[in-house]
Amino acid sequence: MNIVFLGPPGAGKGTQAEKLAHTYSIPHISTGDILREEIKAGTDLGKLAQSYIDDGNLIPDDVAGGIIKNRLQKDDAGGGYILDGFPRTVPQAEMLEKLLEEMGSGLDRVVYLDASPEVIVPRLSGRRVCKQCGKIYHIKNMPSAEEGVCDVCGGETYQRPDDRPEAIRQRFQVYRDKTADLIEWYDKKGLLTRFNADIVKEETFDELKELFDRIEEGNGH
Ligand code: AP5
Repeated sequence: MNIVFLGPPGAGKGTQAEKLAHTYSIPHISTGDILREEIKAGTDLGKLAQSYIDDGNLIPDDVAGGIIKNRLQKDDAGGGYILDGFPRTVPQAEMLEKLLEEMGSGLDRVVYLDASPEVIVPRLSGRRVCKQCGKIYHIKNMPSAEEGVCDVCGGETYQRPDDRPEAIRQRFQVYRDKTADLIEWYDKKGLLTRFNADIVKEETFDELKELFDRIEEGNGH
């Protein structure tokens, strides 16, 4: 099954996608994670992406499109995937549509995780991420057993530079200006399903799982 996750920063896209990808044995493809790996490895792409990301802005559409094109052609994406963070603009959605057409494929569903600013600002400022394996924590809602240490791999957890208050503000502005248009764009195509992401993550997960099960049975609408 081919799914896109859409929603504002901090809605829980990464948290839910990681768990669902594990449950359904499909890859969780996050452009944010790919870019953070490139930054860590000091590649040309990482160097280009760093200032955009740290300031809360989007990298150019053609660069993001190139990343996804390469990633979707890998073998493990053949049995389905969750795309988290792509597309983020209407031109990116058009690129994806064209790419999937060329590949003889298409999207099964676009999941819109809708969360309100009052809920997501504290989520983002309390988020911690493992430097080594990328596992997501929250200092209050989902703390690691030992502060600063990942439960899964023992790596060090850190605060993403784009979770600083000024970068959070910019990310929301960019979301409103560029990404929110995709909600209507996908809704008009009959692909969008909205979920309330303000509630505890286990409840959202259960609702998402029902949708994923229906898609697996060929009845995802
Ligand atoms: P990206 O990494 O995709 O960031 P984002 O979209 O802003 O999303 P986040 O990762 O901040 O939030 P999330 O919804 O995944 O929330 P999470 O599950 O972590 O992109 C980063 C940057 O890369 C972009 O700004 C841009 O520069 C660049 N980029 C990426 N893709 C691009 C593209 N296509 N084009 C151009 N540029 C691109 O949850 C947040 C916190 O809340 C966690 O601590 C979690 O534990 C907690 N939490 C989650 N759910 C709940 C809940 N229900 N209750 C309580 N706490 C919860």
